[in-house]
Amino acid sequence: MTDYPLLTLNDNRQLPQLGFGTYQIPDEDAPQAVKMALETGYWLVDTAAIYQNERGVGEGIGEWSDIFLQTKIWNESQGYDRTMKAAEKCLARLGRDHVDMLLIHWPCPDKGEFVDTWKALIELREKGKAKSIGVSNFRKDDLKRIVDETGVVPALNQIELHPTFQQRELRQVHEDMGIVTQSWSPLGQGQGLSEGTIQDIAKETGQPASAVILRWHIQHGLCPIPKASSRDHIEANFKTLEFTLSEDQMNRIDAMDDASGRIGPDPAEFC
Ligand SMILES: NC(=O)c1ccc[n+]([C@@H]2O[C@H](COP(=O)([O-])OP(=O)(O)OC[C@H]3O[C@@H](n4cnc5c(N)ncnc54)[C@H](OP(=O)(O)O)[C@@H]3O)[C@@H](O)[C@H]2O)c1
Repeated sequence: MTDYPLLTLNDNRQLPQLGFGTYQIPDEDAPQAVKMALETGYWLVDTAAIYQNERGVGEGIGEWSDIFLQTKIWNESQGYDRTMKAAEKCLARLGRDHVDMLLIHWPCPDKGEFVDTWKALIELREKGKAKSIGVSNFRKDDLKRIVDETGVVPALNQIELHPTFQQRELRQVHEDMGIVTQSWSPLGQGQGLSEGTIQDIAKETGQPASAVILRWHIQHGLCPIPKASSRDHIEANFKTLEFTLSEDQMNRIDAMDDASGRIGPDPAEFC
């Protein structure tokens, strides 16, 4: 039995350090994919209202007990009242009375509603609908703003992060503020697997390339949430809990950072 690594959140709850992402898993395939992930041993499952698979994710979880479930409030539901209603709809689709982590999906700075949205999340936590609350794609100034206006620091910020886009500055902000960094697209949407350095380290360690990348996240104290559709990929990625990278191997992956390596949208503009 593998020891599952945990991170302590600023609300004193424990976050499993490896998760299972479900973006682009259709609702009808989600029960099977989530079930495979839980049987493999994953504890954390990440979904979102916009993925349109919360019903299937909830079905896949069923009565499973070792589970840390997170979902996200979509951009059009921002604002206090809309967020309160959207959260109830998420719970109804998931078939649960609470989630372990509720996130604001994007800051949408031009909308000017993320502070009110954050106030709704604080209320939802007080009501027990979300055990912990956090954000996604927030920049330094967005984080400072919600903390200044409410005094409540998000437990985590889920951001795009992979070897070719390492977000060192924002990770330092998180560390200073006591916020856990959760890595979305941790495998660079699969593109990172064929990189020369990753392939070399996969040969040196005898581990799958995906497990090497995920191990780099874990040894940096990050929480990667890889998405995979097949049992082979799901199991290959879980092997990341079975070995360690040397300091030299970590340094070689650190050297892959590329300031222009962003794959997804820019949070300054996207909504
Ligand atoms: N907060 C946000 O704005 C945001 C944005 C994007 C993503 N996310 C979250 O982060 C999760 C992960 O990000 P992502 O799905 O964009 O990208 P990712 O996890 O970096 O990569 C997923 C891709 O890698 C492939 N893959 C996975 N394991 C593999 C393996 N062992 N060997 C070969 N290929 C493998 C998958 O293929 P198969 O499907 O064929 O296995 C899929 O094409 C999402 O599912 C979602 O939960 C959040």
